[in-house]
Amino acid sequence: MTKFGLLSLVALAAILHAETGYDAWLRYAPLEGATLDQFRQAVPAVVSVLDQSAVSVTARGEIVRGVKGMLGRTLREQTALPHENAILIGTVDEIRRAAPGLIPDTTLAADAFWLKSATQGPLHFTVIAASNDRGLLYGAFALLRKIALGETLANLDQREAPYAPARWVNHWDRLDGTIERGYGGNSIFWEHDHVRHDLTRVADYARLLASLGINACSINNVNADPRILTPEYAPEIARIADAMRPWGVRIAVSVSFGSPQTIGTLDTFDPVDPRVAEWWKARVDELYAAVPDLAGIVLKADSEGRVGPSAYHRSHADAANVVARPLAPHGGLLFYRGFVYDNHMDWNNPKNDRGRAAYDNFHSLDGQFDANVIIQIKNGPIDFQVREPASPLFGGLEKTNESIELQVTQEYFGQARHTVFLVPYWKETLDFDMHATASGDSTVKALAAGKTFHRPTGGIVGVVNGGLAENWMGNHMSQANLYGFGRLAWNPDLSSQKIADEWTRLTFGPDPKVDQTIEQIQLTSWRTYENYTGPLGLQTLTDITGNHYGVNVEASERNGWGQWHRADESGVGMDRTTATGTGYIGQYRPAVAARFESLATCPDDLLLFLHHVPYTYKLHSGKTVIQSIYDSHYEGADAVAAYVEQWKSLRGLVDEQRYNDILKQLEYQAGQAVVWRDAVNTWFARASKIADAKGRVGHYPDRIEAESMTLDGYTVRDINMPTPGRANGPPVIAPAEDASGGKVVACPTKSCTAATKFDGQPGWYTLRVEYFDQANGVAHYRVWVNAQSIDEWAADLRLPSARLDSTTSTRRSIFGIALRPGDEIRVEGVPDGGEFAAFDYLEIVREH
Ligand code: GCU
Repeated sequence: MTKFGLLSLVALAAILHAETGYDAWLRYAPLEGATLDQFRQAVPAVVSVLDQSAVSVTARGEIVRGVKGMLGRTLREQTALPHENAILIGTVDEIRRAAPGLIPDTTLAADAFWLKSATQGPLHFTVIAASNDRGLLYGAFALLRKIALGETLANLDQREAPYAPARWVNHWDRLDGTIERGYGGNSIFWEHDHVRHDLTRVADYARLLASLGINACSINNVNADPRILTPEYAPEIARIADAMRPWGVRIAVSVSFGSPQTIGTLDTFDPVDPRVAEWWKARVDELYAAVPDLAGIVLKADSEGRVGPSAYHRSHADAANVVARPLAPHGGLLFYRGFVYDNHMDWNNPKNDRGRAAYDNFHSLDGQFDANVIIQIKNGPIDFQVREPASPLFGGLEKTNESIELQVTQEYFGQARHTVFLVPYWKETLDFDMHATASGDSTVKALAAGKTFHRPTGGIVGVVNGGLAENWMGNHMSQANLYGFGRLAWNPDLSSQKIADEWTRLTFGPDPKVDQTIEQIQLTSWRTYENYTGPLGLQTLTDITGNHYGVNVEASERNGWGQWHRADESGVGMDRTTATGTGYIGQYRPAVAARFESLATCPDDLLLFLHHVPYTYKLHSGKTVIQSIYDSHYEGADAVAAYVEQWKSLRGLVDEQRYNDILKQLEYQAGQAVVWRDAVNTWFARASKIADAKGRVGHYPDRIEAESMTLDGYTVRDINMPTPGRANGPPVIAPAEDASGGKVVACPTKSCTAATKFDGQPGWYTLRVEYFDQANGVAHYRVWVNAQSIDEWAADLRLPSARLDSTTSTRRSIFGIALRPGDEIRVEGVPDGGEFAAFDYLEIVREH
């Protein structure tokens, strides 16, 4: 090997060293070639900060860290106006005092920043100016982002101000360290009912948040444990605040409205009782004694079993104000959740509609909330479904502060086991025009930020349930959702394309093929996920009363939770019209209502959310509803299969660890998309009695159903088994559409086999075993061709179900197998614990 060859191999190895994802988009990977030269020339040797606040010093430290990583140079840290070229960090006032005339006088909003090239005599300064230290930190991150993205630093004059004053994340972390709807490991804050001893990760997390301009973080579940307000917790909470403070991230807590009674000594929590008001004041003052810069409180009341003002026939305004009032003198905010609904609604009443709840609960109270109360409204009227219209409540409050709540954690979006980039989804809501004013901007973003009605405050809130997973989110690709959320909270006018591009380049580097491939996957992934889960406004057709993960079309119906789609033999969709339905559409302003009410103008994507139609109804696209449901599911599953191939084309271009992690994730997702496709399509074929015009649904020519194989020990488990058979041994598959042909086999003994004879053409094949990876054991599988063992694996994924269902249905692909007619293919299963080594089918697919 030549010397040059050896060198370049070493260089390549350095670039592609394993990355865990811990540094996310703040990797500060070394720049190379011309870009490196350009920035080495542009960046001076000194970085100076004019004030000594912790956040300003953090800003300077970050510049040093970033420049060292990207340019391999350690800048000299200073604290006054340097006598040489420098990066200069200071508030406008400080800079004008230290160097009169260096920058023009100007007023910057809180948290805003200004990157400015300036000269004084022979000296050249790259100035980061702001009105407060948080703005300085945001400016530092912006400057580093420019370098990382290869944008020139010449003649800088870039001002940015945050779109909304409150840019918060909410964590649903429980004090015991588990996380409600968390898919990236346990809590970084909590462990065994205490704040974790080591808060290094909390500081690192605050750094990630700060890089996006997020300025507050609530640290415990909205389904709040009342103990959070007991005095023992105050010093512990203060430690979290200390860890985040240098990054300009203030903390908030979620509280339980019943606290005056449950942890206090009062016999009431009636919000208009003066003793209750006094109790809240005392607790809030205590909190501020421990955390003087507490950002505020989050409150979920009268929802999903949480107590609230209804216990005393008081209003949500009474409830919000009693907690908000003592916060006001400290500058604290009270985020009152608009997610209030009755989860015991009568399913039989066609006029009942959970979608109406937010508006019905809050619209009439407009003007009754204190100035430091913000109503926190989920993007849609239901609950983070795969597609929902913007909540009508955004347009229903004029004299009340509001904020939009987006969910980063992907609860109904594949729970970080699926790649779904949510920015395009959020943008659609943020940009939606509510027509709330005759003139002026009444898009959801403007309303939420308080711009439309000139409210004192407003915000954008993200539910982020990342945790101790090395890559924070449980899926490298899901980090893009946190990045995108933060970028949108700062500037909702950024395009999805721009955000995807920034994230990809910061996270994976500048290779155009890598960037193009990842961006294409991310930008199409929401539509893809929608296609194989719930198209046309059906919502995520998941297990509503269970894990919110696997497919279960029926689970939405015949219960009080109200996530109904009303699909039956005659048609599908919720009639929310004012003419014949629940009247939900009437909650929108007339221009929006008219568009939604009329079938002629209702968008196809929302059709079944807003209307009930027969399966034969023709969409604007010209397809019937039923054929569109079938087709979308095939398109969605095909798209994920294509993502796998696209990803494989990046082998050697992405570091090995992330390459393999993401490949595994996408392969799993591709299998799950098939499970969803088949279950949903089977269900609708059965309900509608209309066959797929393309003949695919129910016909799987490459599959050999497990139940039709030669079974030794394995028994068939289906929902139609007679009761005595069902009562014994392994569980049955339920619902039936979760298995191909409605049946699976499971092994009630120590070990079982299922065999089949191959009768196709000789050639190379992929074998796929659709098996069940339950949460209550680690079964083992082995596949044989004749006497040769060709693959074995353990069913050791951590999926959220112990049953035989779509959640546990999982695919194992065995590539490159030579088959000849007459070969015997045998699947062997060894159960473990409650896991019965069940499987659904074997698929034999010819390779090209
Ligand atoms: C969803 C979620 C709950 C959560 C609730 C909320 O319903 O499934 O876990 O508590 O939203 O936002 O309050």
